[in-house]
Amino acid sequence: MAKILVTGGLGYIGSHTVVALQEKGFEVVIIDNLSNSEESVLHGIEKISGIRPQFENIDLRKKELVQQFFAENPIEGIIHFAASKAVGESVENPLLYYENNINTLVYLLQECEKHSIQNFIFSSSCTVYGEPDQLPITEDAPVKKAISPYGNTKQINEEILYDTCAVGNLQAISLRYFNPIGAHPSAEIGELPKGTPQNLVPFITQTGAGLRAELSVFGDDYPTPDGSCIRDYIHVVDLAQAHVVALQRLLDNKNTSSYEVFNLGTGKGSSVLEVIHAFEKVSGKKLNYKIVPRRPGDVISVYANTSKADEVLGWKTKYSMEEALQSAWKWEKKVRGLD
Ligand code: NAD
Ligand code: WQD
Repeated sequence: MAKILVTGGLGYIGSHTVVALQEKGFEVVIIDNLSNSEESVLHGIEKISGIRPQFENIDLRKKELVQQFFAENPIEGIIHFAASKAVGESVENPLLYYENNINTLVYLLQECEKHSIQNFIFSSSCTVYGEPDQLPITEDAPVKKAISPYGNTKQINEEILYDTCAVGNLQAISLRYFNPIGAHPSAEIGELPKGTPQNLVPFITQTGAGLRAELSVFGDDYPTPDGSCIRDYIHVVDLAQAHVVALQRLLDNKNTSSYEVFNLGTGKGSSVLEVIHAFEKVSGKKLNYKIVPRRPGDVISVYANTSKADEVLGWKTKYSMEEALQSAWKWEKKVRGLD
């Protein structure tokens, strides 16, 4: 049986998607270079699904290794998560981001062409919309000039896919994630940020666990009801499920064009202060936080219009932001040996 290749499958979203694929009976092979993950994630995956997936420690920037992998492994579809994702780091080191996020996609697509692999799912981001003109954001909202090199790589990636699908046999789906949070309910896998977390929820849970003294809230003077920024926080397990649905759509040839784009969000916006208070409620802990000036590059308010994913893909989120926070907290406590 041909396998599904999950690049970046030991990372945060990739590992949850591997489990979701295994639960549907897919045979998975993971490529990851461990630049932002640990090999022990394989153990977590195995504990949940009972299956240890094939793992290849390959850096996708090494074209010859990528070619060799495809020569040796029959692949039916690819879910491409592997990328660098820290917005601030991409501003400091843009070439790292252009190399890691652009070259790797090109090499994979060349192998798709060579080996007639038709099914490709890509990890895009709501960052392609920039500061939206209208909320909630639909898929046909304009893609604005990217605020960061990271965001630009996602826009370029989408254009590469669009152009490639226009001429060959490839069919691809870009999934534009809003803000993924949470962990598998078993707490066997979750988000493992290296160093100081840049994202809100891991910073909150690490503060709750006592690793960080205080959370900084970046601005309370935005034009929103409580003055803090609004985002669409989606449980990573819901997000993972959407990848399986999107892949199945391609395998069943249900797609209506060779390149499709879907928003993956809940459709509900939550402010930073609402997330903090929800965390306090689910954890029973007071969170130490203070208001500091705005963080450069933050957009005010972003949340998804989910109609297309709902009606066309037939996928909807099941979990609330509170449930996602609860799972993130359970995971953090497990990782830190608390409770
Ligand atoms: P992650 O860093 O946890 O996972 C990415 C994985 O890819 C890591 O395990 C890393 O080791 C691996 N990797 C990176 N470069 C590689 C290379 N050259 N060769 C092989 N492996 C490589 O990130 P994540 O949060 O799981 O994100 C997955 C994807 O989703 C990324 O493309 C990211 O840009 C996108 N995305 C993430 C978010 C988010 O907030 N987490 C939001 C929107 C989009
Ligand atoms: C959420 C809110 C912050 C940390 C980023 C990327 C985006 C996408 C998802 C990949 C914002 C506030 C945060 C903190 C805070 N990733 N905040 N204190 O910026 O919406 O999106 O991740 O594609 O491209 O930009 O997520 O979690 O960093 O921030 O007040 O210590 O929390 O200002 O309003 P963001 P985030």
